[in-house]
Amino acid sequence: MSAQYPPRRADFPSDFRWGVSTSSFQIEGAGQEDGRGESIWDRFCTEPGRIRDGSNGLVACDHYHRWPQDLDLAQSLGVNAYRFSIAWPRILPQGRGQVNPKGLEFYDRLVDGMLARGLQPWATLYHWDLPQALQEHGGWKNRETVAAYLEYTDVITRRLGDRVKHWITHNEPWCSCIMGYYEGVHAPGETNLAGALQANHHVLLSHGHAIAVIRANSAGAEVGITLSLHPIAAASTSAEDCAAQVRHDGVRNRWFLDPLHGRGYPADTLALFGADAPQVQDGDMQAIATPTDFLGVNYYFPEEVRHCETGGPARSALTHKDGVERTAFGWEVSPQGMVDLLTRVHRDYAPARMVLTENGSTYEDVLRPDGTVADAERKSYLQRHLASLQSAMKLGVPVQGYFAWSLLDNFEWAEGYLRRFGLAYVDYATQSRILKDSGRWYSQFLRP
Ligand code: FCB
Repeated sequence: MSAQYPPRRADFPSDFRWGVSTSSFQIEGAGQEDGRGESIWDRFCTEPGRIRDGSNGLVACDHYHRWPQDLDLAQSLGVNAYRFSIAWPRILPQGRGQVNPKGLEFYDRLVDGMLARGLQPWATLYHWDLPQALQEHGGWKNRETVAAYLEYTDVITRRLGDRVKHWITHNEPWCSCIMGYYEGVHAPGETNLAGALQANHHVLLSHGHAIAVIRANSAGAEVGITLSLHPIAAASTSAEDCAAQVRHDGVRNRWFLDPLHGRGYPADTLALFGADAPQVQDGDMQAIATPTDFLGVNYYFPEEVRHCETGGPARSALTHKDGVERTAFGWEVSPQGMVDLLTRVHRDYAPARMVLTENGSTYEDVLRPDGTVADAERKSYLQRHLASLQSAMKLGVPVQGYFAWSLLDNFEWAEGYLRRFGLAYVDYATQSRILKDSGRWYSQFLRP
């Protein structure tokens, strides 16, 4: 069963989707141009202390203006797919109502640019940049935001649905809801568990209802949702730590996977949340379980937990393992974790197909005087994770594509520009893009 190392493209199916992944707020910039409305991340960035380097997304990678060059770069890598996200506040600056034609025109050009370069567009509808106008009414905590999201989905899929045939409703509800409304570290920076769980319920509900809208506007479209998932281990074999592992898995993984696969919210996790559990109306769980075409999986690192009475609803605490390899972010590097995760999701939920919609690493990259970036660690990370992907597929997991995070260094949320995840280095002073050694390797891998 062992996979070829370093992996070879020829060992993957010939119709496999190879891509790179980006998101609107992290790269576009042009924050106040062509009628774009304010997003919750614009507002969050103005609040002191929220972003580690005090930066914002107003310019970012200036992709709004440099997209032809960025798509050229993606094409030059040899990928055949490109994952991007649409900025809702560019389309409906107030969240609903008035449509901004310039926003639609931008994504028209971008999608046409992908198609002209042989890049299959994979569009994410929501990668966290909620229009601030909706946040004024509670954002995702407000059930009305579901209706607003469906309005937005209808507008954008009517416009692009003839050319975009791969749609991702949401990116990582854990991050947009739990980190945004409970942990307070992402926009909108709130810290209320009941609010976060209600927001999360509405996000899942909006996903479920959007599927029919997308299918109606985009004939033959494939639709899915992307989750951030982690394989979770117990710190010891003690009964206490093992029970904490089950609880943590409930909060972190099953809370999303179960309802999407028609099982409702997991009973043990609902009990942990108690009175903070979300209000659910008749029909909601059926809507959330609407069948999709694929499950998007973002894999970065495994987690290990121990029992901890004060560790939130799951009464668990993440352990800091000694002696493991880590990225500059401190995230454990575990290619085996990808195999463990994919085989687990396949065994327990058996989605028809999975797509690795994100996987990548951040290191302290240095642009050398000779104009190169020697990121041996990222290259090795990529090679080992692709080998793991191949192992998982050999074990029978149906995976349809792999998107490396990310094409470019970009605005890494609360870390600002301090974390570089790109296959290409961005010199923010000049906005030049320099392919790193990892990007060079990916392109060699992709070329037969
Ligand atoms: C994921 C996000 C993506 C990026 C990577 C590093 O959680 O989806 O936008 O920030 O992490």
